[in-house]
Amino acid sequence: MINESTNYIKKKIKDFEPEIGIILGSGLGDFADNLEGIRIKYSEIPGFETSTVTGHRGQLVFAEVEGKKAIIMQGRFHYYEGYHISKVVFPIKVMKKLGVKTLIITNAAGSVNKGYNAGDLMAISDHINLMGVNPLIGENDATLGDRFPDMSEVYNKKMLELVQKLGKDLNIVVRKGVYAAMSGPSYETPAEINMLRIMGADAVGMSTVPEALVANYCGMNVLGISCITNSAAGVHPSRLSHAEVVETAEKVKNSFKMLLTSLIKEV
Ligand code: HPA
Repeated sequence: MINESTNYIKKKIKDFEPEIGIILGSGLGDFADNLEGIRIKYSEIPGFETSTVTGHRGQLVFAEVEGKKAIIMQGRFHYYEGYHISKVVFPIKVMKKLGVKTLIITNAAGSVNKGYNAGDLMAISDHINLMGVNPLIGENDATLGDRFPDMSEVYNKKMLELVQKLGKDLNIVVRKGVYAAMSGPSYETPAEINMLRIMGADAVGMSTVPEALVANYCGMNVLGISCITNSAAGVHPSRLSHAEVVETAEKVKNSFKMLLTSLIKEV
């Protein structure tokens, strides 16, 4: 199925060879709206599912950004939507087959670290997988990676340093922290957030880890950026809502766009 999907896409994009992959998270999808390029809806690609979350588009965009050829996912597949975990990471394997070497993953996340504010960006230094599933379970495809892949540097250190430097240059707050992934779709309880804080997490979300894990397994350089859209449960008395998540992401989108653009230029 991976080869079928790759061949389908290759026919559409002809000699366009993407080197950078970008996944746009909740509320951050506009980044690709004004780019000139080729668009392919997930629904027409063999092996792809269709994304159902509000604030997510559901298409691949092939475009040049700052002179770099990129494949951009406007919307992703979440485990909580009910897809098998292999479907969540399927696009990453296709990206690998298309020649992608660097993957930039973005998401919306809640802050576990009490020093963070809504609207901050956080570069992911490492993750804790609490989704209850590993996307590599099942038969191993040795053309992609090892059976027991090393995960000691999922997030590329050089890219981590680069994004922090660019943040400084652009006057954008870029924190560095550990992202904990929960399955969702319910938000966490205050007790769960306390647990995550004790474990060493700075932010929490419902995505990114499956994709980052598989990209690292495939030998890609990975950078993860969380947009801190809200304080996690129990930090403030207010209730959590998806509307708040999308609203904060909307507010941050211009600085996020600037950071992403300069990142792509420098990568
Ligand atoms: N928890 C989990 N996922 C999230 C959150 C949160 O507080 N905010 C945005 N995505």
